[in-house]
Amino acid sequence: METREQWKSSLGFVLAAAGSAVGLGNLWGFAYRASQGGGLAFILLYILIVLVVCLPVLVAEMVLGRSTGKSPLIAPIQAAGNKWQPMGWLFVIASIGILAFYAVLMGWTADTFFHSLFFGLPGNMSEAETFFGSISSGSSVLLGQLLSLILTASVVAAGVRGGIEKLTKWCVPLLFLLLVVLAIWSATLPGTWEGYRTFLLRWDTSEFFNSTTIRNAFTQAFFSLSLGIGVMIAYSSYLDRSKKLPKQALAVASLDTSVGILAGMVTFPIVMSFGLKEAVSSSTVGTLFISLPTGLGTLGITGRIVAILFFALAFLAAITSSISLLEVPVASLMDRLGWSRYKSVLISTGLIFLIGIPSALDLNVLGKMDSIFGGVLLILGGFLLSVLLGWVVPRKFDEDLSSSNSEIRVRRYLKFMLRWVSPPVIAFGLVVSFMDLLKNWS
Ligand code: TRP
Repeated sequence: METREQWKSSLGFVLAAAGSAVGLGNLWGFAYRASQGGGLAFILLYILIVLVVCLPVLVAEMVLGRSTGKSPLIAPIQAAGNKWQPMGWLFVIASIGILAFYAVLMGWTADTFFHSLFFGLPGNMSEAETFFGSISSGSSVLLGQLLSLILTASVVAAGVRGGIEKLTKWCVPLLFLLLVVLAIWSATLPGTWEGYRTFLLRWDTSEFFNSTTIRNAFTQAFFSLSLGIGVMIAYSSYLDRSKKLPKQALAVASLDTSVGILAGMVTFPIVMSFGLKEAVSSSTVGTLFISLPTGLGTLGITGRIVAILFFALAFLAAITSSISLLEVPVASLMDRLGWSRYKSVLISTGLIFLIGIPSALDLNVLGKMDSIFGGVLLILGGFLLSVLLGWVVPRKFDEDLSSSNSEIRVRRYLKFMLRWVSPPVIAFGLVVSFMDLLKNWS
């Protein structure tokens, strides 16, 4: 048997995991969910869920990967026996489902980038809608989706060290830098405070009880952290025993959350300065692709440069995420059927392309796939993970953390949260989200 690949350095692992976390979910999902009316309540709930509920589950998911050294499909069985096989399938199915529509969004991103670079920005709202119509339909959308998948596949085919680690090591710091520059620029716009106030700071206590706000906060937390469907299992299975997982998990979560907030600080002032609030408050999946280019279009060449940088950054963020999603089925096929990496990549990518076609051609399907695969299934996966590591095989959790010398205080805290806080809170989030999904289905 071949020995399992390993990350070259622990920084490489953290950057790869952070690269997976930081993606279109931070730039596009955050903007679109934050503008659905939750305001500050949404943001506080989201941060609270990340810190209190998701962080222990993130450590648990990493422990499951590292302690078993297996792919997401096999790790649950290895840890707790055959009864847990469905969990492995959930991971593989959900990651395929997410990547299927994620690649479509990547295609839009690339298209917007090239459009800003070569042709310039739309001059007004109706031009923007025509523009968005052209990137989100017909053959160009299929082409964008296909090329994004091919790019993703070629990185994953190059392996953990040679592909994933190499790419994320450059991309993640670069995109962080770009985002800080853009946030500073955005802060100088005339509508800055209006933007922060309207979307990021607006306070409304009743939003805490609004099921859509609660679902948005849970979904955003899990989706943005890449939590609940085995990405972190896959990545941690290539990590050696000496690294302290709680520290790494905290680094990933902090990076991810700050990118979410920074992205909001870039997008909202732009939207407000150019009076695009109406367009955004209807908040469809197209928000960012319509309002941002339109707003920037009024600023001449500066706006065009900012648009080029922003969509380049978004594409970088997206590809470091899409490779992590593809790694789930790829690692699982290699593990289960003994296929080569190359063959696993080829078959998975082809399948994902086909599954994504309906979402490429119909925005409604895309939205549905997002709320099922990128929403309730993730929360379900998170719930199962907390039960598995908190209750079924708690010893694994202890052993793994003590073998890497994590502090006893940290271990006790995480274990307590994983057993007593995460499962009930996630179960609550799951029920509310599921009901809200049904309510808003049509
Ligand atoms: N976290 C990424 C984003 O914010 C998307 C992503 C990558 C993801 N891997 C995942 C989401 C696993 C859920 C599960 O865009």
